[in-house]
Amino acid sequence: MSEHIVFVGAGNMACAMISGLLRQGLAPSQMKALEPLASARNRLKSEFGVESHSESGPFLVQADLVVWAVKPQSFRAAAGPVQPHIQQALHLSIAAGIRSDSICKWLQTGRVVRTMPNTPALIGKGITAMYACPAVTEADRMLAQRVAASTGEFMWLGDENLIDAVTAISGSGPAYMFYFMEAMVAAGTQMGLSADQAYQLAVATFCGAGELARSSSEPPAELRRQVTSKGGTTHAAITSLENDQVGSLFIKAMRAAHCRAAEMGLEFGDTPTPSAE
Ligand SMILES: NC(=O)c1ccc[n+]([C@@H]2O[C@H](COP(=O)([O-])OP(=O)(O)OC[C@H]3O[C@@H](n4cnc5c(N)ncnc54)[C@H](OP(=O)(O)O)[C@@H]3O)[C@@H](O)[C@H]2O)c1
Repeated sequence: MSEHIVFVGAGNMACAMISGLLRQGLAPSQMKALEPLASARNRLKSEFGVESHSESGPFLVQADLVVWAVKPQSFRAAAGPVQPHIQQALHLSIAAGIRSDSICKWLQTGRVVRTMPNTPALIGKGITAMYACPAVTEADRMLAQRVAASTGEFMWLGDENLIDAVTAISGSGPAYMFYFMEAMVAAGTQMGLSADQAYQLAVATFCGAGELARSSSEPPAELRRQVTSKGGTTHAAITSLENDQVGSLFIKAMRAAHCRAAEMGLEFGDTPTPSAE
């Protein structure tokens, strides 16, 4: 890749992407960041050799791609000072909830790719869903795709509304997995294991089950059936989960994440203009 990339916001997700791009062979000099926090700027320099600035300025002109990695509530305020310095760049947003029509308006361009990564990006095992606005060219898509691929898998979506569903599944998903692990560790310690032992067992089980699902052609329901013999231990646990309607409660929780993503678009973005039909 020969392009220059500017990150607006250099927090956790931006660092995951920078680290992935360096692993792919991008030179530190091909990346810059705009980041108000001195500690984050120091980390970029010491850990990745990437220069950063505390304020918007002419350094932005050379950007071929601007990655928007600020919190959703900071996006609008961050866009104002950046927009006048950007000429020909493609814009890639990772902000939850913020719709592309708001981003296009704030940045005065149609070349916007909206994405939703997740935190396993930190170790190159993320998955990023991507939506391209109509003005995004094929070359733009390839560039956005290469950046997403630096942190793991990616998928394109044809409908922007689905990004909120992705946010509820894979964006927030790692936290659900950690939540289940916490419960497994708590149960393990109640049953006499040490916290370390229970944690090791829980993590290995999550990773192993994930890899098994990935390598199998069977759906999860069948994989579960294969290890659930009637009257056995797994059957006892699954029956207890089903009696307590844990599956339905889990779907309800994910719907809450989905609603919140849509709400954030309205709260921190611009109200969509109704189409003139
Ligand atoms: N973390 C996740 O699991 C995850 C998953 C998918 C998507 N995302 C999305 O990724 C985005 C970033 O998340 P994160 O976890 O990386 O957040 P983060 O660690 O808080 O990083 C955001 C950074 O942007 C900086 N910033 C704030 N205002 C700015 C401005 N005007 N110009 C430039 N930089 C500014 C922040 O500085 P201050 O601290 O000084 O405000 C902070 O260092 C969010 O929109 C989130 O929705 C996150």
